[in-house]
Amino acid sequence: MIKGEDKAMNIVSNIAIERSKGSKLPFVDFNNIQFGKQFSDHMFTADYKNGEWTNLKISPYEPITLSPACAAIHYGQSVFEGMKAYKNEEGEIFLFRPEENAKRINISAERMCMPTVPQELFMDALKQLIKIDADWVPAVKGCSLYIRPFIFASEELLGVRPADEYKFMIFTSPVGGYYNDEIHVKIETEFTRASEGGVGYAKAAGNYAASLYPAKLGEAQGFRQLIWTDAKEHKYIEESGTMNIMFHIGDTLLTPFTDLKTTLAGITRDSVLTLARDLGIKVETRKVSVEEVITAMRNGELKDAFGTGTAATLAQISSITYNDERFELPPLDTRTLSNEIGQIIQDIKRGKVEDTHNWIYKI
Ligand code: COI
Repeated sequence: MIKGEDKAMNIVSNIAIERSKGSKLPFVDFNNIQFGKQFSDHMFTADYKNGEWTNLKISPYEPITLSPACAAIHYGQSVFEGMKAYKNEEGEIFLFRPEENAKRINISAERMCMPTVPQELFMDALKQLIKIDADWVPAVKGCSLYIRPFIFASEELLGVRPADEYKFMIFTSPVGGYYNDEIHVKIETEFTRASEGGVGYAKAAGNYAASLYPAKLGEAQGFRQLIWTDAKEHKYIEESGTMNIMFHIGDTLLTPFTDLKTTLAGITRDSVLTLARDLGIKVETRKVSVEEVITAMRNGELKDAFGTGTAATLAQISSITYNDERFELPPLDTRTLSNEIGQIIQDIKRGKVEDTHNWIYKI
């Protein structure tokens, strides 16, 4: 069963709509788009005041006015989500597991002491916005409409306390691939992205800010991304860049567990693990030590390593460097596991194969 159509019938939308006077669409070259540099015609906004979400509206995409004392700018109460809309050959539009994003933004919000967004509001806003900008969902292979829901503290406030006023917004951006070049990474042994008891599992803006400086140092050494390790000992692997990370070693697909709450519980991660199990592949989610990955690379047992995330879906890693020793990974076209699962996910997202897990949400 395709969800969405049926569910939305129960939602009485109270979103005010102001349409843009002209579309920017004719100026977009879908065959040549840079990630996140072009934005669709409309955006959704809701204001949180006096304990409730009000002023629900879809309006033309444009800059917003904020006080210089806006609390999110100073103390970082800001969380976001990332998701994508896809179009099939018949022009139908699909989202992939959007209810999971609706749940996760609230997990992030709770950790940052922010109000949650009711799932019905999240889904209704999303659906209405995508409908209005339906022509912005690219039909071009490899392209999609990236969707960015986010909540931030908008109160004018200098005291350090949870703000009383917030905005929940959604805008969208047509995108192609996230990585267009080979991904060479190094295992980070000095800086950390997150620690136990911290906010690593939340999609909080500050997590991304904290990653920039080490990533910039890595980039200067020729690395496209870093593999983050645990904050205590740098002995265990956590994530790769902004993505979860997986290794195919011997006959097992291995990925760090999320129990310590230092990494994001990725929706793509969960989908890949589910599909791997469907294919009869042995899956292990547990602590993954740097040492076992290095040993597997030395022994030639490491068949594949890849990141998973909404932006890139599956991003295959070409080489891993650890303490100045560089290990070249097998050629990308020999990576049977990530190539096969990557294709299945793409086909599910575009409605080309049976959606046995009920992941597709039709707009
Ligand atoms: C993702 O991989 O989906 C991300 O979180 C990257 C995004 C911040 C652009």
